[in-house]
Amino acid sequence: MTARLAIFASGDGSNFEAIVSACRSGRLAADVVLMVTDRPAARVVERAARLGVETFAFSARDYASKADYEARIVSLLDERRVDLVCLAGYMRILSPTMLDAWEGRIVNIHPSLLPAFRGADAIGQAMAAGVKVYGVTVHFVTGEVDGGRIVAQRAVHYEGSDREELTAMIHAVEHELYPEAIGRLIGND
Ligand code: GRF
Repeated sequence: MTARLAIFASGDGSNFEAIVSACRSGRLAADVVLMVTDRPAARVVERAARLGVETFAFSARDYASKADYEARIVSLLDERRVDLVCLAGYMRILSPTMLDAWEGRIVNIHPSLLPAFRGADAIGQAMAAGVKVYGVTVHFVTGEVDGGRIVAQRAVHYEGSDREELTAMIHAVEHELYPEAIGRLIGND
């Protein structure tokens, strides 16, 4: 069966596009049926338009509370019969409105080898710590930020000091690892 995915993103959307590409090339037996963003001007919106993926773009300030916009998202996910929610650079913490309905069916990608370097700017935190092995983690989302069960990890060995170069290496690994991890979760193989 082809799994139905929703991707949540707030920024560039390179992981969103990597997942869509994996689906369309047949590497992943899934369809991305919805992209959700809290940043209507983000580059991910252009990517979704170009790729023909339905977008729900909202501004938090148009809603009275997080519970209100998340309730709207939860009903869209139900209407579109989504099986798995994949956070990919979504910069908002999920509240119980989303988690109570979806916990266990939401994953995230984080640019560190969790449990090291949780939270914002994980790459900067790791560089500041002087690590020699960076990495990427796909994990389930719970109420604890970057704290849910780990699905997949991959190391990135880097001893230089060029943040752009390192970020590009980490992104390249993310674009491989995320579709693979999703495939495992939805029972591809
Ligand atoms: C990725 O590095 C991901 O690990 C983090 O946010 C970034 C999103 O990048 N959670 P993009 O928008 O998919 O290009």
